Amino acid sequence: MRVGLVLLSPLARFMIRYFLPTFLIACLSLVDACADEIDEATRAKDARRVKALLRLENPQLSEDAKGSVLRYLQTKKGTDEYLSIVAKFQLKEAKDELVRLAVEDADGTLGVDAVRLLMKLGQQEYLAMALADKDDAAATKLAAALGLLSDHNTNSLLLPLVPSEKSVGLRAAAVTALGRNLPGQKELLALVQAEKLPADLSFSAANALLTSSDAHIKAEAGKHLKLPATADAKPLPPVAELVKQSGNIEEGRKVYATVGTCAKCHKVKGEGKEVGPDLSEIGSKLGKEALYVSILDPSAGISHNFETHLLLLEDGTSVSGILISQTEQEVSVKTAEAIVRKIPRDEITAMKKQPVSLMPADLQKSLTAKNLIDVVEFLTTLKKP
Ligand code: HEC
Repeated sequence: MRVGLVLLSPLARFMIRYFLPTFLIACLSLVDACADEIDEATRAKDARRVKALLRLENPQLSEDAKGSVLRYLQTKKGTDEYLSIVAKFQLKEAKDELVRLAVEDADGTLGVDAVRLLMKLGQQEYLAMALADKDDAAATKLAAALGLLSDHNTNSLLLPLVPSEKSVGLRAAAVTALGRNLPGQKELLALVQAEKLPADLSFSAANALLTSSDAHIKAEAGKHLKLPATADAKPLPPVAELVKQSGNIEEGRKVYATVGTCAKCHKVKGEGKEVGPDLSEIGSKLGKEALYVSILDPSAGISHNFETHLLLLEDGTSVSGILISQTEQEVSVKTAEAIVRKIPRDEITAMKKQPVSLMPADLQKSLTAKNLIDVVEFLTTLKKP
């Protein structure tokens, strides 16, 4: 017996050292696989349950059933099915995801359907909070989606933004959104008539009101607002009319490089100076309407990282440009002439981010409407490969 044990023990030790870990790992993965299986099973059960519930006329969800539906929804984010299930069961729990979707797809059907659903679910207050608290870029998109809904019930959410301290971009988006329904246009007109419309919103307000289908609104607005004149002294047509036209791409390419002066500040496929964003793929980023607004009202949609900074210097002069870098010793800005200026910190008395774009707001002065239509046509062809 003893001899047997003595003989066995090296073998046992060998087994313990080499096979036990392998055995344990195998056990663990088995447990894991079982857990996955449970997950799969739950998922299948959830899917069956949701399907059955969807067939009911007026489904009342028990807590347990609601759990199934919410779990099922987690796998359907960003789809039409997600929206229709939320609508069917009136799931307020989905409000965060709906706002996220509205921001992500602000000018698409899904995004607009998401805000429609939020309104239906009585989430006005939540939307007002999102408009107030989200960062400017996200809030601007949310306002745009609300505008595309063309529902006058959204006006009370948008109107307070107009005279607020928010960025021009967000305020202009609110004006455009209000302009998409008649009661909203009336609210805007009242602001204009009372001379309470901030001056930096007159371009977006003119575009909204001078194209009104209501002759009275159009005429009244015309007394206070007008679109800027173009190179041939004719007033610029409203953006809503410009977008309906198609231009000549080759002519547009020429305008871009010559009278438009665009190449002085933008690169396309490696050519041109780089003050503003590279436009090589701008046709994939912006639609026609957004392109017109970017050109004609640049301050309404200042792209991130391209804000103008104004530096006041000790000698009483000032420099403005796009911030390139800053260290403890110096600040570098690129001016509208594409010149990089490096300024020692101790010469700077103040530095302020400006609400206006470095892109000139009066480019249309040297362009005809046709030039503009052509240049936009050209820009729409600049797409991601
Ligand atoms: C003096 C420099 C300057 C000139 C000239 C200029 N731009 Fe710009 N542009 C900028 C700057 C800076 C920005 C970024 C800030 C902003 O969005 O307003 C910009 C932004 C844009 C945008 C938005 C880009 C984006 O990614 O959102 C478009 C489109 C555009 N410019 C087109 C044009 C066209 C077309 C012309 C000529 C008709 C032109 N620009 C002339 C400086 C300029």
